[in-house]
Amino acid sequence: MKRTIFIWVISIFCFISVLGVFAGGGQEAEVIKMRLSTNHTEHTPAAKGYFYLADRVSELTNGQVTIEVYNNAVLGSARETLEQIQAGALDITHASTAHLSAFTPIMDIFSVPYLFRNNDHFWKVLEGKIGSEIAAYAEEAGMKLVVWVAAGSRSFYNKVRPITKPEDLKGLKIRVMGSEVMIKTMEAFGASPTTTAFSEVYSALQTGVIDGAENNPISVDNMKHDEVSKYYSMDEHMMIPDVLMISLSSWNKMSKGQQKDFLKACEETQKFIAEEWGKQEGESLDNIKGNVVINQIPDKSEFIAVVKPLQNSLSAQFDGYIEKIQAVK
Ligand code: GCU
Repeated sequence: MKRTIFIWVISIFCFISVLGVFAGGGQEAEVIKMRLSTNHTEHTPAAKGYFYLADRVSELTNGQVTIEVYNNAVLGSARETLEQIQAGALDITHASTAHLSAFTPIMDIFSVPYLFRNNDHFWKVLEGKIGSEIAAYAEEAGMKLVVWVAAGSRSFYNKVRPITKPEDLKGLKIRVMGSEVMIKTMEAFGASPTTTAFSEVYSALQTGVIDGAENNPISVDNMKHDEVSKYYSMDEHMMIPDVLMISLSSWNKMSKGQQKDFLKACEETQKFIAEEWGKQEGESLDNIKGNVVINQIPDKSEFIAVVKPLQNSLSAQFDGYIEKIQAVK
């Protein structure tokens, strides 16, 4: 009798357990936890966008995919985090296409000086067919481009003199990102380029290792480079997009449905960052005014003329894409 009761108790227990597994199947799935790295402070449009992305991904996937954001390059420089992404050691990173060009050479096309006419042209290209075609190349390097991140126009700043014409750049030691096209551009201007990680530019300026650098107003303001510079000269020579990259191994961990939700959140994030950029750019220019003298360069034709031969010489390297981009109306 005791034995029969025992068997009954065990059988009921097993039945309840099996029922539990079926009913709670969804909740048993493992949560996918991702880490996202940026070399930005938490106040930039991009960093704010990534907090937004983390919230939206969690909301849309009912907490099944989570993203933890690490700012200030604590996980490494853009170059280093891209290496980690490629090795599958990190899930997501922010970078400039100039950094990405070391892994996916065609990305250096966006460093071509005066490639874009204006902000509208920039977005038309990136959000159109050309943007998708170029983005797809990154998959050959083991990563997927999921957000085109607004990064404004880059201008020169330095400690020596205001840049009002191309000759003013002659002989200046200018920091650039690790991009061949950026290096060639500085050489075309007669400046002497040196590559330095973003987080080290402040001390390089302070100690005089470099005379200047070039970047958008929001980055200059957030990294406080204005504290160690004297002039910000708005020649706006490049509009280099930033990008958000996910490693293909992390991407493949998500189910089809989660990938769809993830991309929806990315699409929203792209808009969020671009809007935030519009709000912050003017504020940053105002903020740096106290430390640097800002000069406008309304007529940029001399600058454009100096780099035109370089642009022509790069045409073959980029497979006709320079012309295709310029033909976008
Ligand atoms: C921009 C960009 C950064 C990049 C930096 C740089 O500010 O937003 O992602 O790293 O330029 O010059 O290194």
